[in-house]
Amino acid sequence: MSILKVIIYPNPILRKKCKSISKVTTEITKLINDMFETMYVAPGVGLAAPQVGKNIRLIVIDIGQGPIVLINPKIVKKSGQQTFTEGCLCLPGVEAPVDRASYVEVKGLDKAGKPVDYIAEGFLATVLQHEIDHLDGKVFIDRVKDTSLIKEVRFESEPKEERI
Ligand code: NI
Repeated sequence: MSILKVIIYPNPILRKKCKSISKVTTEITKLINDMFETMYVAPGVGLAAPQVGKNIRLIVIDIGQGPIVLINPKIVKKSGQQTFTEGCLCLPGVEAPVDRASYVEVKGLDKAGKPVDYIAEGFLATVLQHEIDHLDGKVFIDRVKDTSLIKEVRFESEPKEERI
C-alpha cells in the first residue's frame, strides 16, 4: 500500500464530474487500499477518488464503525435536515457548518463489485453526502449558505474528525 498525494482546492480535478467504474480491476482494488491508507494517515473519515486525482466514482469512509467502500454510489432517498461542521482534506485549515439531509439511502457496489445498500443517519449520512458530492465536482464550501461562517482553523493543533 502507499500514501497518495491529496489534491488541494482549487485544483480543477476537484470540479470534474467523475466517471462510473465498469469493472473492479486489480488497479481499482489497489486504489481502494491506498485510499484507506491515505485517509487513515491524514487523518480523515472519508475520501473520494478525485481527492487523490482519479476522476472515477469511488469513495471510502470510516467514521470509527469500520471501513465502507462504495463504487458508483447513488443517493436513492433522503430526508430530514441536520448541520455538522465540516472540513475536507482538500481544503486544509477550512471549516464551516453545512446543512444536509439527516437520513440517506445509498446504493452502489462494494469492493468486490456486488450491489450494496447503506441506510445512514447522523454523521455518517453527512459524510456519505460530502463524499458523493466530490464525485460530482462539488466541495463542501459550495453548500455553505452564509459564507461568513467559513472559518480558517489550524487543524494541526487539534485533529478534527470532521475532515472528510
Ligand atoms: Ni472532502
